[in-house]
Amino acid sequence: MPYILALDQGTTSSRAIVFDLHGRPVAQAQREFTQHYPRPGWVEHDPVEIWETQLATARQALEQAGISAQEVAALGITNQRETTLLWERSTGRPVANAIVWQDRRTAPICGALKVQGLEPTVRAKTGLVLDPYFSGTKLRWLLEQHPNLKARAASGELAFGTVDSWLIWNLTGGRVHATDVTNAARTLLFNIHTLSWDPELLEALEIPAALLPEVRPSAGRFGETDPALFGAAIPITGVAGDQQAALFGQACVEPGLAKNTYGTGAFVVMHTGAQAVTGDGVLTTLAWQLEGHPPAYALEGSIFIAGAAVQWLRDGLGIIERSAEVEALARSVPDAGGVYFVPALVGLGAPHWDPYARGLLIGLTRGTTKAHIARAALEAIAYQTADAIRAMEAASGLRLKELRVDGGAAANDLLLEFQADLLNAAVLRPKVTETTALGAAYLAAVGAGMLSVPEVQARWALERRFEPRMDPARREALYAGWRRAVERARGWSS
Ligand code: G3P
Repeated sequence: MPYILALDQGTTSSRAIVFDLHGRPVAQAQREFTQHYPRPGWVEHDPVEIWETQLATARQALEQAGISAQEVAALGITNQRETTLLWERSTGRPVANAIVWQDRRTAPICGALKVQGLEPTVRAKTGLVLDPYFSGTKLRWLLEQHPNLKARAASGELAFGTVDSWLIWNLTGGRVHATDVTNAARTLLFNIHTLSWDPELLEALEIPAALLPEVRPSAGRFGETDPALFGAAIPITGVAGDQQAALFGQACVEPGLAKNTYGTGAFVVMHTGAQAVTGDGVLTTLAWQLEGHPPAYALEGSIFIAGAAVQWLRDGLGIIERSAEVEALARSVPDAGGVYFVPALVGLGAPHWDPYARGLLIGLTRGTTKAHIARAALEAIAYQTADAIRAMEAASGLRLKELRVDGGAAANDLLLEFQADLLNAAVLRPKVTETTALGAAYLAAVGAGMLSVPEVQARWALERRFEPRMDPARREALYAGWRRAVERARGWSS
């Protein structure tokens, strides 16, 4: 039986999972790496550490699986998206730390571009909004740091990439500089309708085209790993941003099917088929493209802080010792007691898109305990998801019937119960919740011609279904409170 190696390069750790062709995980390895916060609102990663931890986990997973590289038929890559890297082509050395998707330093650049009137063009061509989240303004900021960088970029000495490109470059020994359509779709520079880099946007953002990777379908041939790395060359046949990979791993392959990944942030993505649907507050993006086929589109609600709110309870407030304790603490009270926590710790993403919003705890009384705050933090994850889904429903005209969930916090039953109640829709947790890596493995298997899309669909299996039980009047009252709290958090740091 051939195996597939999936590399999942996330925001806080690099992971590698070996899957068999049934989609069963055989072995896995994970390494955390350093988060750099040089100033408030700034978040950086060391590209060399990203590569070294990723390579180490890949080798470790193969070793644990007890298989050689010859038995691995395909390699899939999935990654934290938007994070921006710049390196020297001749040496492969990064010229700066990676600027992470969470980094807010380019809010003033976005503000200036809005004043110039660029936002409607950005919306129409890229499906995105002018927010520091995306790569384009981060790349522009990097090029402005040193006087000679722009000239070096224009002369073709430098390469830009999101994390997938950086991994492909290193895995192929510097032979391939490529990305896939889903990652390109997050740069602010890529036209999602023509599937090409957009000259008007490149000019507006002052980005030389010589920097850019070649854009390829998400499932297809990207090249082979350098034989020196694993002892034999492995074909790289699947690449997608982590949220799109999770959508594929959740087998959301038909219009109207949606998933939410509760990780550091939460990312709701709804498959919209061959159509690029647009709507207020939500992003239009590429779901994937399979080689030889037209692309599939998606709507996305990107929520910046989800599981990170629980981490903040642990690290910032110290009211829990381990993240897993949050459910028991939150369950020790029947409700949040009127407390709302708006976790706008890095601004707000969908559907508000306010880089100047900041976190807010409101509704505190003498009776408030840490249990209420824990419950409010979990509820905030569900409220933000509901905000995004309501915007998506308005955009697509589709009513969400069920939501497939995954990611670390999907293990939290209380969160999923409240989510089903708020959405008034069923929430479905699959047996394999490692759907991001699984999606990358499936894309690689499809790209290598080993699996078909219906076979991917047939492999999805339910673990537990959460049905809504809340009374509609209570739902609306709770939700109205949340909306008032969000209004108070907006614009705080401007
Ligand atoms: O858009 C950012 C997203 O891709 C990051 O995902 O799982 O690394 O937090 P994650």
